[in-house]
Amino acid sequence: MNQRKRIIAGNWKMNKTREEATELSSALVSALSGQEDLPEIVLCPPFTSLQTVVEKTSLSPVAVGAQNMDWRDSGAFTGEISPVMLLDLGVKYVIIGHSERRQFFGETNTTVNQKLKAAIKHSLVPIVCLGETLDERENNLTDAVVSRQIAAALADIDATLLAELIIAYEPVWAIGTGKVCDAKEANRVASVIRKTVSNLYTGVDIGLSVPILYGGSVNPKNVDEQLAQPDIDGSLVGGASLKPEEFLPIIQAAQNRARLAASGT
Ligand code: PGA
Repeated sequence: MNQRKRIIAGNWKMNKTREEATELSSALVSALSGQEDLPEIVLCPPFTSLQTVVEKTSLSPVAVGAQNMDWRDSGAFTGEISPVMLLDLGVKYVIIGHSERRQFFGETNTTVNQKLKAAIKHSLVPIVCLGETLDERENNLTDAVVSRQIAAALADIDATLLAELIIAYEPVWAIGTGKVCDAKEANRVASVIRKTVSNLYTGVDIGLSVPILYGGSVNPKNVDEQLAQPDIDGSLVGGASLKPEEFLPIIQAAQNRARLAASGT
């Protein structure tokens, strides 16, 4: 049976003022209080609301992640935020290589690798994103693209350092479009990613133990089918993470899956 952690992460992107972030995180914390069998829940607000959300979620089952970071500790890098600064705020997770960063902000497989190494060095839990564009999918390049992305992300990183790694498979064409990837197909790509990771390391099966999330137009209606797939361990949720009435049922779907697994069904 799948023993991997279940994780539901909300990527707020460039949304929410501090006041709105307070409202949303407080609503989630109070709705989740006292609940059992919860997945790991990670909220990723913009940098300006990290401190607020860390404060609102302290002593709750909710953890906080950043949406990006620089790989250097400090220095003359105007506009950047370092891993040291994230740790200083109480942040635990960091999204690395989101397709919007790759598409609009010059993120490359090389910078993803540098950031992953920095996250590991500072004990931040990395959520490494990868996925193909529509063009790549239509040209049957999906498997080659995700394999190349994950191999590049993991270059020169020792297996012993990957215990906390989380991977998010996010087909670019499914992000923010309402066009969700078919759950079985998402599962197939997740298993390709697992096999690629396994082939990169001999002796230890990181491919088998790494949690893989699906992301791209996840909503309360489609999430259960995704979470029912054997190689999908959770969700990276954008738009639907901005409203408690949509994000809470997604968390609940993971909770129900955990209960089903515990009862052996
Ligand atoms: P979406 O975004 O759920 O709005 O499609 C997902 C993501 O970008 O992580």
